Amino acid sequence: MDVRSVLVEDARRMLACLASGRITPAPAVTAKPASIYTDTEQFEREKERLFRRVPLLLAASCELPAPGDCKVMDVVGVPLLIVRGQDGVVRTFLNACTHRGASLMRECGRAARLTCPYHAWSFRLDGSLLGIAAKDSFGEVDADAAGLVSFPTTERAGLVWAILDPAATPDFDAFLGGFDQLLAQFGFETWHLFESRSLQGANWKLAFDAHLEFYHLPVLHRATFGPGMSNLAEYFYHGPHQRLGLLTRADHVLEQDDIAGLADKPESEWPLASLLFGEWIVFPNVSINCFYKGGRGVILSQVWPGPTVGESTTVQIFLHENPPGEERMADAQAMSDFLGQVVGTEDLPMSRQQQEVLSSGLLREVRFGRNEGGVQHFHDWVDRFANAPEDLSAADVLGSAPLSSGNP
Ligand code: FES
Ligand SMILES: [Fe+2]
Repeated sequence: MDVRSVLVEDARRMLACLASGRITPAPAVTAKPASIYTDTEQFEREKERLFRRVPLLLAASCELPAPGDCKVMDVVGVPLLIVRGQDGVVRTFLNACTHRGASLMRECGRAARLTCPYHAWSFRLDGSLLGIAAKDSFGEVDADAAGLVSFPTTERAGLVWAILDPAATPDFDAFLGGFDQLLAQFGFETWHLFESRSLQGANWKLAFDAHLEFYHLPVLHRATFGPGMSNLAEYFYHGPHQRLGLLTRADHVLEQDDIAGLADKPESEWPLASLLFGEWIVFPNVSINCFYKGGRGVILSQVWPGPTVGESTTVQIFLHENPPGEERMADAQAMSDFLGQVVGTEDLPMSRQQQEVLSSGLLREVRFGRNEGGVQHFHDWVDRFANAPEDLSAADVLGSAPLSSGNP
């Protein structure tokens, strides 16, 4: 893939949209049953056939910068332990001792080895069994069979993906389809973790819908973003992934690079930072938004399904090209607080209110406009995975026929 050509082509289309004030509309207004947000069987299918089949963006590399760094998380009921080994390779394990299943780590941190808090079995950072406490009295164990359960994992573009099926034949290239090569242009591998926080919301798709359209910006976020925000998004689809460009010439709230300024320059001089405009959506549940405060930063939001169909957790991970703690980072801190407030006090309370209404069962359908093509795109891809037979790999599902209502 010629990465620069793809980015330049996207920027060309974005400039044309800015000049005309129009977006490329989706072919039609579409509708889905309101039950997609409330049906427990559908929710179970999404966890099994989507979240346990496709590669998930679990972490930023800078959350685990050094050998021994660990990240502990629970994803759709699967307790995970992500570890950077002595060899620098990041691996994802089931956070479970192979003696009798105790959690090896309770929280993120750094470890030289993984020692179980129950009977002190220990494991190397590559997941192999290192030692059994009181081995003489315990007896013989096949060390090869007693290594940690491990999930296919890849680290690329300064981000970590894993598939929550130990038996999966991983095909990260097919799933990412070069989107990782575009994301690699940010250079996240040299960035820093600024801070992270968790926020509670309603059904994961209700919470994630708000990341996929700008229709609500000047309305729901009137008090925070101001009424002057555009409500139009131009969508750039890359397989199930996508990118949104806001139809505002200069975004004063987030102080993004003014993409309109590119129109005055020859294409060969368009700076990379400007070509990375917009919001990047990594299917199925991650959005990456750029901001410019004290240098370049992004907020990486992961929207994880919760314990029930009506609950989700949004994890906001703030990454910055500069290390935290320096003088100029006060602005970045203010931006981080601001974005936490926007999502925590405006978007997520709205999702909980919708959930309550939809749970009544009395609203039959929800609708997605021609200006919300990216939301249609997302739901079509979720359905495609949730309805595909269990024995198909993610790559098989990607190659299967699209749904009839599918977007380009
Ligand atoms: S459960 Fe881990 S050592 Fe016993
Ligand atoms: Fe929002």
